[in-house]
Amino acid sequence: MRDFLKRLPKAELHLHIEGTLEPELMMALADRNGVNLPYASEDEVRAAYDFEDLQSFLDLYFQGMSVLRTERDFHDLAMDYFQRAHAEGVVHVEMHVDPQAHLARGVSLQAVMEGLGQARRRAERELDMSSAMIMAFLRDKPADEAMQLLESAAPYWETLDAVGLDSAELGHPPSGFAEVFQRARDLGLSRVAHAGEEGPPAYIREALDMLDVCRVDHGVRCLEDPALVERLREQGTVLTVCPLSNLRLKVVDRLDDHPLPQMLEAGLTLTLNSDDPAYFGGGMLENFEACHRAFGWSRDTFRDLARNAIDAAFMSDARRGELVGRLEACT
Ligand code: ADE
Ligand code: ZN
Repeated sequence: MRDFLKRLPKAELHLHIEGTLEPELMMALADRNGVNLPYASEDEVRAAYDFEDLQSFLDLYFQGMSVLRTERDFHDLAMDYFQRAHAEGVVHVEMHVDPQAHLARGVSLQAVMEGLGQARRRAERELDMSSAMIMAFLRDKPADEAMQLLESAAPYWETLDAVGLDSAELGHPPSGFAEVFQRARDLGLSRVAHAGEEGPPAYIREALDMLDVCRVDHGVRCLEDPALVERLREQGTVLTVCPLSNLRLKVVDRLDDHPLPQMLEAGLTLTLNSDDPAYFGGGMLENFEACHRAFGWSRDTFRDLARNAIDAAFMSDARRGELVGRLEACT
């Protein structure tokens, strides 16, 4: 099964590029940039990754990314990830990026976007890996700041596929970001938002109604609202589910208790994703394998899930056709 899951052409729709920062690169960049970290070794970094909830993870996630300072750092971060993902059979990556977290540290938007852009072009050339870019707004910061970011990103609008909404969910409902999402829509950008990870089903409804999202990131708490499940099913709204993330952030106690099987049973359109692979114990292949161990799914089920991701991805029709062909040939 591992061999099949590895060969399966996988598209990753829910990934935070800052969450791909492995302890080795974190320490190397800390050295290169003279940034102090409260760790003496990679093992100490890993030992600190024992999370209670989303916030306890976010604290270390923002601390970890403090080593990213220059265009070269962002290039190295993404390239390191693309290479690992390529080795796991990932053929397309849609990366969230959190510019506000970098701007707040005095890093320019140019360094972030140019560095990531260089890596994306290299991955396309050298690894035949396509990618998309989702500029995320930090929902625990004011909506005004998000609007300012979107406007100041004008030189990069062409390189963006969508805007997203992430960071601390509880107490920060989607409704506060209606105006900035409307502006993104006017600019021709697609919209996605994290909702129903720790927050209630009402946040998923708000993301649909007020942000007009085409995909919901996580969405696992939708099951608490049967009418919402019916709506998501009928509309075919894609939920980008992240099994190992949900486990490590204690959204579920055990993977066996994860609602994925019920969500499939309910007819929802789902994809499997890694969220922050450097922090949650593995990338796409580990997530697929963990689901195989927990739920015993067949090859057909995994092929369907991989197909959902290719169908919902921000990519050209030509690329989609090519990847569908490769998927169908994978038996
Ligand atoms: N930022 C990075 N990972 C996240 C997650 N799982 N939820 C919300 N914000 C995030
Ligand atoms: Zn996420």
